[in-house]
Amino acid sequence: MRVSSLVAALATGGLVAATPKPKGSSPPGAVDANPFKGKTQFVNPAWAAKLEQTKKAFLARNDTVNAAKTEKVQQTSSFVWVSRIAELSNIDDAIAAARKAQKKTGRRQIVGLVLYNLPDRDCSAGESAGELSSDKNGLEIYKTEFVKPFADKVAAAKDLDFAIVLEPDSLANLVTNLGIEFCANAAPVYREGIAYAISSLQQPNVHLYIDAAHGGWLGWDDNLPLAAKEFAEVVKLAGEGKKIRGFVTNVSNYNPFHAVVRENFTEWSNSWDESHYASSLTPFLEKEGLPARFIVDQGRVALPGARKEWGEWCNVAPAGFGPAPTTRVNNTVVDALVWVKPGGESDGECGLAGAPKAGQWFDEYAQMLVENAHPSVVHKW
Ligand code: GLC
Repeated sequence: MRVSSLVAALATGGLVAATPKPKGSSPPGAVDANPFKGKTQFVNPAWAAKLEQTKKAFLARNDTVNAAKTEKVQQTSSFVWVSRIAELSNIDDAIAAARKAQKKTGRRQIVGLVLYNLPDRDCSAGESAGELSSDKNGLEIYKTEFVKPFADKVAAAKDLDFAIVLEPDSLANLVTNLGIEFCANAAPVYREGIAYAISSLQQPNVHLYIDAAHGGWLGWDDNLPLAAKEFAEVVKLAGEGKKIRGFVTNVSNYNPFHAVVRENFTEWSNSWDESHYASSLTPFLEKEGLPARFIVDQGRVALPGARKEWGEWCNVAPAGFGPAPTTRVNNTVVDALVWVKPGGESDGECGLAGAPKAGQWFDEYAQMLVENAHPSVVHKW
């Protein structure tokens, strides 16, 4: 079975290249054009401000090399998370800052946003429980007080482009964790919530990427077709003609795009790094009529040997800031490498000792990410 699915993947991989709309041949603005191409990925000043503490910590011990590296990180693009209703104002701040940058440079900005506030959120891991609960009218509140204003804000900023990541981990939980009662109960709510977000965010300057977890979760041969079916069901629920650009992988996770070392825990998986994961999911997405286009979070990449198991996801150490955001990727189904998780914000009270609650600043961790940063962060590629 392993061998035959590998052969199938290779065979379909050949077909991908032969599809009638090869990348790069579409006119600008066409549905198939990579929205990241020719644009500048937005640098979030709010995150850069948090890294001041990191820079000061290096300077306090006369480590000018890492202080200078921190400055480069502060100039690197990352996504803006909108994780509760009160954080909708993060969108206003991002729009204002992106307009300023656009005016200054004359280059079109693409702003990365994460829409992350489903009722019964984080149903399996439990470290990022949200503010909404399905048994307290959460779905209605999600639609009217979160998604609707979110969509209104981006619709009003036609002078910018937006790449929007939809609900990290949620559909992956429906693929593999329905044995957990909380996830099983949340399933219809997740589907309806994400479908509503898709149908509300249909503007030409808005590019939607549904979260597809990462290679160590949905990348196993048995999970690939189930994942594609789940995604297809939700996109169908969004309604006739509603479009997504594609999928985002590795959000807040630690897998490299191109693994230099193939870790033992990847065993027989064809998805042993994120580039391979994108390629192995592609034929299953195409079979469901879904667009096989990806962006890949490389905000934090684990150093080889850091993890004993692929399932380790929380404040993994040692890790470093990963390859800098770019559209120069050696994989035709990948739009861009991006930094979705703002490195230095904790994954939860787990992993490296002393970690604070999810989302809170963990400067010791940020310092480690700087020390181990990929060379492309310093030397533009
Ligand atoms: C976690 C937190 C969330 C935060 C995000 C990005 O998921 O729960 O509040 O915005 O990480 O750091």
